[in-house]
Amino acid sequence: MHDSPIPYTPDAIQTSLNTLILGRRIELHRQVGSTNDLAREAGRRGEPEGLVILAEEQLAGRGRLGRTWVAPHGCCVLCSVLLRPRFSPAHAFYLTIAAALAIHRALKGPGTRDQGSDLASGLTPGPWPLIARIKWPNDVLVNGRKVCGILSESEFSGREWAFAVVGFGINANLSPGELGDLQDNATSLSAELGHAVDRAALLVRVLTELESIYLSLQGGQTGMIYREWVAALETPGRRVTVDAPEGRMIGQALRVEPDGALVLRLDSGEERRVLAGDVMLPG
Ligand code: BTN
Repeated sequence: MHDSPIPYTPDAIQTSLNTLILGRRIELHRQVGSTNDLAREAGRRGEPEGLVILAEEQLAGRGRLGRTWVAPHGCCVLCSVLLRPRFSPAHAFYLTIAAALAIHRALKGPGTRDQGSDLASGLTPGPWPLIARIKWPNDVLVNGRKVCGILSESEFSGREWAFAVVGFGINANLSPGELGDLQDNATSLSAELGHAVDRAALLVRVLTELESIYLSLQGGQTGMIYREWVAALETPGRRVTVDAPEGRMIGQALRVEPDGALVLRLDSGEERRVLAGDVMLPG
């Protein structure tokens, strides 16, 4: 347990980490193009799974649907994890769910998980005023605004996995001013909590939860992970606008399916399954 900040260095993070796979090797770069790109290069070189690539700043950070991901130097958790899954490539979508749930679990206050793991964070022990929810498919929201984005990328060799990279960016210590025009839809943990967060301790919690979920997936427990994702989602039941590669759709979000699809009832009454897209929620 830690009640003082852990320095944001590979050694200090590793000392606090009790994982079997994730973070056995950690690289922290001052400035990179994209941590996901470095992790993919490592995957192609044959590096073992669990490698964690961190950066203080990305010059070419990538987001979902071909967008860029920008974060000021030194205030966020910009992280990519190299994995070598053994479960069916048909379940690749579950890696993205795994990251969203790991961050969702890590942000939860005591009462929902054991007190020990919350004290281990170095963040103020709860109850925190944070209520994290997941917006389909994998944006983590606090008080309705995005604190974390996830970009999972998989490479295959024929029908088998070559490797996967799970990348996430958590807005840890960003002032409302630094969020600028994004403030309507995005926030940071420090802005929500009213104090800075210990990035290293937060990362330790996220990696610990991510490993636990990853091991469940490797053990074939996708059903359990699906149910936890469904319970954490705020999208079903809401009226939504979805910008999908096939165009904009407006309707009622009915449910999500085990392959990750969001099922909408359009105003015409037609039901549509959406596999990728951006959801906008009213209010
Ligand atoms: C999104 O919400 O669009 C996903 C954003 C993912 C950003 C992270 S930051 C670390 C990793 N490296 C990248 O280039 N992207 C991901």
